[in-house]
Amino acid sequence: MKIVCIGGGPAGLYFALLMKQLNPAHDITVVERNKPYDTFGWGVVFSDATMDNMRAWDGPTADTIQEAFNHWDDIELHFKDRVIRSGGHGFVGIGRKKLLNILQSRCEDLGVKLVFEAEVDSDLDFPDADLVIASDGINSRVRTRYADVFQPDIVVRPNRYIWLGTNKLYDAFTFLFERTEHGWFQAHVYKFDANTTTFIVECPEEVWLAHGLDQADQEQSIAFCEQLFAKNLQGAKLMTNARHLRGSAWLNFQRVVCGHWWLKNEHGSHVVLMGDAVHTAHFAIGSGTKLAIEDAIELTRQFKQLGDEPARIPEVLAAYQEARRVETLRIQNAAWNAMEWFEVCGKRYCDQLPPEQFMYSMLTRSQRISHENLRLRDKGWLEGYEKWFAQQAGVATVGAPPPPMFTPYTLRSVRLKNRIVVSPMAQYSAPDGLVGDYHLVHLGARAMGGAGLVMAEMTCVSPEGRITPSCPGLWTDAQGAAWKRVVDWVHAQSDAKIGLQIGHAGPKGSSCEPWTGGGMDQPLPAGNWPLLAASAQPYLPDGQVPRAMTRADMDQVREQFVAAVRRGADAGFDWLELHCAHGYLLSSFISPLTNRRTDDYGGSLENRLRYPLEIFRAVRQAWPAHLPISVRISAHDWVEGGITPSDAVEIARAFKAAGADMIDCSSGQVHPDQKPTYGRMYQTPFADRIRQEAGIATIAVGAISEADHANSILAAGRADLCAVARPHLANPAWTLSEAAKIGYTPMAWPRQYVSGKSQMEANFVREKAAAAAAPAKA
Ligand SMILES: Cc1cc2nc3c(=O)[nH]c(=O)nc-3n(C[C@H](O)[C@H](O)[C@H](O)COP(=O)(O)OP(=O)(O)OC[C@H]3O[C@@H](n4cnc5c(N)ncnc54)[C@H](O)[C@@H]3O)c2cc1C
Ligand SMILES: Cc1cc2nc3c(=O)[nH]c(=O)nc-3n(C[C@H](O)[C@H](O)[C@H](O)COP(=O)(O)O)c2cc1C
Repeated sequence: MKIVCIGGGPAGLYFALLMKQLNPAHDITVVERNKPYDTFGWGVVFSDATMDNMRAWDGPTADTIQEAFNHWDDIELHFKDRVIRSGGHGFVGIGRKKLLNILQSRCEDLGVKLVFEAEVDSDLDFPDADLVIASDGINSRVRTRYADVFQPDIVVRPNRYIWLGTNKLYDAFTFLFERTEHGWFQAHVYKFDANTTTFIVECPEEVWLAHGLDQADQEQSIAFCEQLFAKNLQGAKLMTNARHLRGSAWLNFQRVVCGHWWLKNEHGSHVVLMGDAVHTAHFAIGSGTKLAIEDAIELTRQFKQLGDEPARIPEVLAAYQEARRVETLRIQNAAWNAMEWFEVCGKRYCDQLPPEQFMYSMLTRSQRISHENLRLRDKGWLEGYEKWFAQQAGVATVGAPPPPMFTPYTLRSVRLKNRIVVSPMAQYSAPDGLVGDYHLVHLGARAMGGAGLVMAEMTCVSPEGRITPSCPGLWTDAQGAAWKRVVDWVHAQSDAKIGLQIGHAGPKGSSCEPWTGGGMDQPLPAGNWPLLAASAQPYLPDGQVPRAMTRADMDQVREQFVAAVRRGADAGFDWLELHCAHGYLLSSFISPLTNRRTDDYGGSLENRLRYPLEIFRAVRQAWPAHLPISVRISAHDWVEGGITPSDAVEIARAFKAAGADMIDCSSGQVHPDQKPTYGRMYQTPFADRIRQEAGIATIAVGAISEADHANSILAAGRADLCAVARPHLANPAWTLSEAAKIGYTPMAWPRQYVSGKSQMEANFVREKAAAAAAPAKA
């Protein structure tokens, strides 16, 4: 085959040498615009796994690279006059020039033709090529030429960065943070050979502009960075090798994703994208070169498996795209999280988190590294951190500290024994709004299951405020007494606290129980009651139309909330949550999708919050001052034009100003057109952002299904409590089981159940040992 690689970066060179090695009969040329020893950039980092992969495909190249590598294990943070270091992170670094020279020399040894200082105009410059590899980097001309086929999705990110070097040597992957009068800068620093260190400086666009760096040339930018990091550099100079760039040399990262990776051009040659031309990964997780190298390996593997003659090319390219697309998206997602962390850290974390927690947050920024991963990497550091966390929670630790989820949490006079909440879950099992034996057993079992707080389901303030005919209420004294029986049992038989979630279904009322109506939110076929909402807009397009509330309705419903809350206080609940989420009455005021009013209660967010805040204040007055109130909100409507996470910060600020203690950060269920992005812990970013930006405690909820999730969230300060819903339906003792699973044996079990504790713990120990032994046997 005749193969031409446009671009002699890691992707083009490595693919050329692998294919030549696979079959020396191939005629392979790499065309590069630069000279062999001319390149931008400094060092790049790899993981040990990438090296193993390379060794399997070409031993000599891997060995030469290995010799040139700098290996280091530690990450060091320099932040607010503190230096914090943790180990076990395992990176290797190499100079970009060195890497390219090794690949170039191996290409020459194998007989690949290298053409330097040649600018390629397009793939059509090579009419007799069977295969053209578009390895022409992030600004790929070939990709642009066929944009209609490749469908590139390019997102330009807001931060600015400059890729510098220095001869000061660092013995850890080092992160430096410096505050200026206009905001925070950070530097990502790693040594890549005996004399040189990469030094990437990054900051948000507005900070960059405020310092006039858009007007600065390279020398002035370097002088600025030297002064900014003078304390750390101690006289060492910063250097650039990006003289080919015009202007300031401060770049914006561009995230590239392509819908399609290959085509056949008008000469009949197949053209395929590789490396940065088809996908980019932010340097915050340092994997762009790894992706380029792994693309080259995968395409070679497909040729090896399916046949390396021209007739097989379409099949090979299809298989290559299929194999690489999913893997690169996975890495790009992790890189995206890490990149976003560095974009927002100045505003969200630097001034909010203490240095210890800042370090933890930084280490877990990609959300690929969890609490238990950190323990595997550096047990000593993690235990030290757990100790610090426990001390902040007021626990005097002598022996091993408790994991974060098992530290207590105090709000007003209420002390939760741990940070797990049974999230409110409607059970549709309270005829006439009366809870009975069902709730005694259901909530009682969960109170015995180990969680610190058991939040009862949405309890309605009036018959019209019910979701279904079987939802519990607090509009009569008999209902209050029925709740008191449940609350008293929980208090007598467990050390869990029990919370009341109070709400009004608004436009989503008069619905069937999910098992009678064929799903959620289906209107009752008969026996409907009149509905109230912010506006006369049904939840489902063909649903029952509610009445837009008049001022008189507002007064009446406010008094219903107050009366219900008083009954809740009399019943002895420890905690109150006001339900302002999920499209119910108060939520229908907050979201612009459901509030179409033109009076003082519609329009601006301030107006839309007016009635929910009126209810909150009335409820706060009626609820005992020593007991906390949380507010559940939908922090994202997941619909264009609806509530966004930045609106949610404003909503949280408003409730905080009105006296709320905590925001319970749910999302969605406000509009049937919602398109949520589900995934592990998918709503936690809202809890995190609200906690840091609005300065109020938060509950994270949504797909938190393991102790490792909860510990990672709490330890990073992304929330103060974790609510767990569906896992508690399957297992009322979820918290006790998770404690046993992670080996936290000091967990107290109900005295009647104690003989199950050691058995469960021993079973988990055995399972773990068997899992650890399994690969060794295989
Ligand atoms: C600040 C920064 C830090 C980074 N740090 C890391 C890191 O630590 N680890 C890591 O793995 N990755 C890192 N990367 C990313 C890494 O550099 C790229 O992902 C990697 O180089 C991609 O390899 P590639 O071969 O696809 O593209 P490139 O390395 O960009 O190679 C493309 C080549 O094509 C040539 N070319 C382009 N157009 C033409 C044309 N028309 N004619 C002739 N030649 C042409 C270019 O001159 C270039 O040599 C970093 C990137 C940046 C910007
Ligand atoms: C059966 C069921 C009923 C629910 N009822 C309520 C409710 O009454 N009030 C509320 O705020 N959320 C309710 N939710 C939402 C949960 O509290 C929680 O936010 C959601 O299930 C996401 O958490 P998970 O992924 O742990 O299940 C309910 C969820 C389920 C599964």
